Amino acid sequence: MQKRKAAVLAATGAAGQQFIEALYGHPWFEITGLYASTRSEGKTYAEAAKWFSSNPMPPEIARMKVGDVEKALNDVDQYDVFFSALPSEVSKEMEGKFGAHKPLISTASGFRYENDVPILVPEVNAEHAPLIRVQQQARGWKGFVVPGPNCTTMGLIISLKPIYDHFGIRRVFMTSMQALSGAGYPGNPALDIVDNMIPFIAKEEGKVQLETVKTLGKFGDNAVANAGFPVSCTCTRVAVIDGHMLSIFVETDKPCSPDDYRAAIREYNEACRKAFGDLPSAPAETIIVKEEENRPQPRLDRDLGGGMSTVVGRIRQDEVFGAHGLKYVALSHNTKRGAAKGEVLAAEYLIREGYF
Ligand SMILES: NC(=O)c1ccc[n+]([C@@H]2O[C@H](COP(=O)([O-])OP(=O)(O)OC[C@H]3O[C@@H](n4cnc5c(N)ncnc54)[C@H](OP(=O)(O)O)[C@@H]3O)[C@@H](O)[C@H]2O)c1
Repeated sequence: MQKRKAAVLAATGAAGQQFIEALYGHPWFEITGLYASTRSEGKTYAEAAKWFSSNPMPPEIARMKVGDVEKALNDVDQYDVFFSALPSEVSKEMEGKFGAHKPLISTASGFRYENDVPILVPEVNAEHAPLIRVQQQARGWKGFVVPGPNCTTMGLIISLKPIYDHFGIRRVFMTSMQALSGAGYPGNPALDIVDNMIPFIAKEEGKVQLETVKTLGKFGDNAVANAGFPVSCTCTRVAVIDGHMLSIFVETDKPCSPDDYRAAIREYNEACRKAFGDLPSAPAETIIVKEEENRPQPRLDRDLGGGMSTVVGRIRQDEVFGAHGLKYVALSHNTKRGAAKGEVLAAEYLIREGYF
């Protein structure tokens, strides 16, 4: 397969850097363009980006010049695909201008709540992909915009998927303990977050509630009908660098024991392996179950499956909901699975299915 020419929009930020890590040396993509704000315009990537990955910045990338996203519109024909990590307000204004011409895969929220836009996670809702054709027809676009979910929603929906499919869901309660990198660079000031937790993240709870029911919804008649259960959540920021941890309580339609959930996860992993195992960014196990009583932990478990596995542990029957209730903890790498590498996986799926 000839490699597709890829441009990264907002390449210098926390999520943009992860796009570079996910795309550099990728068998299907070649990074040929880097764009960010006017602050970075004309600088080399090494000058413009505050690189904080423990992997070294690839030397070819370090030497590339960064352009202004506004001006990237003049270069649209040079690329086969755009990967966007634009700030949400900018994504709303800019992404459609690219999507009118070429595929644009985004980790930003600007388009997530549009009726003709799927929030695509192959292992959760590959059947929503045909909404892309509806979008192209309605907007007269040659390309399209496909976002992924918010980084907190990602671990929630992947861990709920086997429960929803096998047992049905009546309601979900979730409290997140979210990593600092989720706020981008430089994130919360040290004096706010060291020795501390902050029990509020602006707009996060509404995003998780909307996106959970949209991603787990059914596609039919050219639209997605949201899943019918309510989600209640509290989102907090903690002094962890990467990896969002979620404490989840689920009331199910049919009785579901911890062993029923474990069996449903094994079946789900097998189905994901069959359906997506050929995609370069897919993990061997979509969900990894930890049986140790003190796991998962962000520092020890966030990079499992190349940062793409959702790590579930502390699976217990819930005392309040009884046989219809489960409680567990889920960990998901926010800038990898919950942002860039998760979006690269979505792009791989769309290429395989003929959407490019
Ligand atoms: N961090 C995560 O875990 C995560 C997870 C999922 C989704 N996201 C989403 O990813 C997006 C970026 O987040 P981040 O964490 O990477 O933030 P960040 O570290 O603050 O980076 C912001 C990026 O946006 C660029 N930018 C800022 N204003 C711009 C403008 N007016 N025009 C063009 N580019 C502009 C910056 O370029 P300069 O360097 O030139 O200023 C930089 O590349 C957001 O939509 C966020 O919600 C982030």
